[in-house]
Amino acid sequence: MLAFDRGVSMIAGIYPPMNPFLLKTLHLLGVFALFASLGASLLASARGRLASVLHGVSLVLILLVGFAMLRKPPMDQSWWMVKIALWLFIGLAPMLAKRGLLPGAVVFALTLAAAAASSWLGLAKPF
Ligand code: HEM
Repeated sequence: MLAFDRGVSMIAGIYPPMNPFLLKTLHLLGVFALFASLGASLLASARGRLASVLHGVSLVLILLVGFAMLRKPPMDQSWWMVKIALWLFIGLAPMLAKRGLLPGAVVFALTLAAAAASSWLGLAKPF
């Protein structure tokens, strides 16, 4: 292990160092939660119209860029298929809350978990 890595791990109070995929996933979870909070405080007006549009546009962007990165889906692997299922869940999530099937805060927590899981799958490509 590099001396620098060891130093950073010791400063962060995590020695021995954690799995880099787990660290990156937690880092991204922080980013998702941060931007969700910005969205909630900045886009909440006009009955969430802007938020709904951004939800749709960003979902399409994620899917298109995802397939662009895959170029040809590796059919012998399944991590990317799980990512599509998670993507679908995140896409349908607002409906679950709107129809009163689950409380909004619960759906929100589940979408954050789905985003973190999707990030880990993209980083680790475990299966
Ligand atoms: C909200 C949903 C999603 C999130 C949060 C997400 C997040 C991520 C992250 C963080 C990475 C790692 C990037 C890196 O290597 O540094 C990644 C990689 C990847 N994602 Fe996603 N992703 C999502 C949905 C999707 C979908 C739906 C697809 C497929 C259509 C997809 C395809 C890919 C591919 C192919 C990679 C690997 C790129 C490579 O290293 O070759 N992702 N994703």
